[in-house]
Amino acid sequence: MKLMQDKVVIVTGAGRERGMGQAAVMLFAEHGARVVVTDLARNAAEQDAIEVVAQAAEALGVESLALGVDITDRAQVEACVADTIKRFGRIDVLINNAGTAIGAGPFLEQTDTQWDVSYNVHLKGANYFCQAVIPHMQAQGGGAIVNNASMLGVAAEPFSAAYTATKFGVVGLTKVIAAEFGGDNIRCNCVCPGSVATQMQEEGLKQFAEWSGITLEEAWKDAERCALGRSAQPEEVAGAMLYLASDLASYVSGDALMVTGAANPGV
Ligand SMILES: NC(=O)c1ccc[n+]([C@@H]2O[C@H](COP(=O)([O-])OP(=O)(O)OC[C@H]3O[C@@H](n4cnc5c(N)ncnc54)[C@H](O)[C@@H]3O)[C@@H](O)[C@H]2O)c1
Repeated sequence: MKLMQDKVVIVTGAGRERGMGQAAVMLFAEHGARVVVTDLARNAAEQDAIEVVAQAAEALGVESLALGVDITDRAQVEACVADTIKRFGRIDVLINNAGTAIGAGPFLEQTDTQWDVSYNVHLKGANYFCQAVIPHMQAQGGGAIVNNASMLGVAAEPFSAAYTATKFGVVGLTKVIAAEFGGDNIRCNCVCPGSVATQMQEEGLKQFAEWSGITLEEAWKDAERCALGRSAQPEEVAGAMLYLASDLASYVSGDALMVTGAANPGV
């Protein structure tokens, strides 16, 4: 059964290899969606990476649009939404996936830049996209938004203040949108992944190992403390996003779905 036949789906932060955004694009495309693949395009290599993902989606027999979008820039977000409407005429699903690990680090050493960039990407950027798509969803009779928060959006661990505080904000943003726009048949949920085997996680764990005086291997082991005893693959989180975006979850809204392999989320 195809869960997204002809739906129009925007995914942010979808250009990076082995990332959850890319996995979401491919899974939604497999389910028949027309996909808008977006990510930072600060140079030719980044623009190419977005186009490669869009072409891979098209190889599955769906239409796609590849757009460079810095989500912290309201004008770029609005241009992306306008281009999507021009090409496809509607927006059924928004996957706010883009994120940054810049906010990790020992609390007393955290800089204004770490706080500002974490806020700008996780909250301001996700908010810009929600503000830009919701009027279209209202006009067409509904839609679904899925935000990528984190297990660190509901509980805390050391060395992650700016990341954690802003991911808690993503859960809050999710709930307020669900509360405010339920009457427009717009559902909003978030996924809260634990450890996912992506480039971002590898980079973060390298730093964590350094701060904790442990090896990278020990850092992975620490990150993978959960009942299933391993990290998720990006596709496994994409599956949770697909569920939340689809009609299978037609009565699920305002939820923060843990995708952690039954980890103890901590404090
Ligand atoms: N990897 C994990 O273990 C893990 C766990 C929980 C939550 N998350 C969250 O999942 C999401 C995806 O992360 P990932 O691990 O797949 O990493 P990733 O590096 O593959 O994805 C992050 C993407 O966000 C993009 N991005 C960053 N700043 C941006 C901006 N200003 N505008 C547009 N795009 C921007 C990056 O270019 C990148 O493509 C993030 O929100 C992350 O915080 C990751």
